[in-house]
Amino acid sequence: MDENKKIAVFPGSFDPITNGHMDILKRALALFDKVIVAVLNNENKTPQFSAEVRVQMIKESTQGLRVEVESFSGLLTNYVKEKNAVVIRSLRATSDFENEFQMSVMNNHLSPQMETVFLMTRKEYLFLSSSAVKEVAKFGGNVKDMVPEPVLKRLV
Ligand code: PNS
Repeated sequence: MDENKKIAVFPGSFDPITNGHMDILKRALALFDKVIVAVLNNENKTPQFSAEVRVQMIKESTQGLRVEVESFSGLLTNYVKEKNAVVIRSLRATSDFENEFQMSVMNNHLSPQMETVFLMTRKEYLFLSSSAVKEVAKFGGNVKDMVPEPVLKRLV
């Protein structure tokens, strides 16, 4: 039964998912019974990839893993309450900290029972971000080692 399972929600824009996200996801799977990757579908933002394509790329990249992939809109706290889960976020350098700290405090204010677990990025992925990947790909740079194959084929 799902009630006894430890479930984590890994939310983000994932525009697109990178190997840094994949590393966090795999490490979260070692800690939780199931991880739900929740792709933010935000009408106020214009992502490079639609929510449907982002979900599809993550599904293709996580085949064989204990992972569900969905899109969500609205408040993360509402989504997470429904799933009875904790939230996983990653921290790269100190620059991520302030934003993540603010977000987790706000989420905790909105939903005091909700916990956020932070996993620190491995050094190989310190430099990696979805925006950097898009920028490099846009100008013809090689992003082969930065994203999973299903993303690479859509970026190139
Ligand atoms: O990959 P990102 O863009 O850093 O992810 C940010 C995300 C999706 C986790 C965050 O923007 C979010 O939770 N958005 C949903 C709206 C919400 O709940 N906002 C209140 C938190 S301050």
